[in-house]
Amino acid sequence: MAMLDVVQVGHPALRKKAESVTADQIRAVASQQLIDDMVETMHAAKGVGLAAPQVDANIRLFVAEAHPSKRRPHIQDLELLVVFNPMIEVVDETLDVDWEGCLSIDLGKMWGTVKRSSRIRLSGLDRAGMPIIRELEGFHARIAQHEADHLDGILFFDRIYERAERPEEVVIATLENYERFFQPQDSSAGQL
Ligand code: NI
Repeated sequence: MAMLDVVQVGHPALRKKAESVTADQIRAVASQQLIDDMVETMHAAKGVGLAAPQVDANIRLFVAEAHPSKRRPHIQDLELLVVFNPMIEVVDETLDVDWEGCLSIDLGKMWGTVKRSSRIRLSGLDRAGMPIIRELEGFHARIAQHEADHLDGILFFDRIYERAERPEEVVIATLENYERFFQPQDSSAGQL
C-alpha cells in the first residue's frame, strides 16, 4: 500500500467529470490497489471520505469511513464504504445544515456550512464489482453527497453559495475561527 498525494483546489483534476467504470475494470489489480491506497490515505489524513479525483484518478469512485471522535462525538459509526459509479437518490427532501471541510481545500482547514439532503439512497458497485444499495441519513448521507459531488467536479463551497437563500447563510471559516467563534460541540463536522 502507498500513501497518495491529495491534490488541492486549483488542480484541474478536481473540476473534471470523472469516468464510469465497468465491473471488469473494478476487479483489475490497478483498481484494487487504488482502493487500498485511497483508504490508507484517508485514514492517514483523518478524513471521513475521499474521492478518486482528489488523488488525481479520473474515475467514479469514493471511499468513506467515519467513527465518533473528539471533533465529531455524536456521529454513528460508518463502516468502510467503497463505491464505484455512485448514484444518489434523495429519499427525504429536507435539507440539513452542518459543517464540512474537504481534504482538497487547504488540507481540510477551511470549513463551511452546507445544506445537504437529510436522507438518500446510494447505489453503485462495490470493490468486487457487485451492486450495492445503501440508505444513509444525517452525517452519513452528507458524506456520500459530498464525495459524489467530487466525481462531477463540484466542491463543497460551490454548494454553500448555490443553496444559500440569503447572503448571511454563507458561512466559511478557517479551522481556527471555527473553534473560536462557533460551537464545535454542537457539530459533527469533518474533513471529506
Ligand atoms: Ni472533499
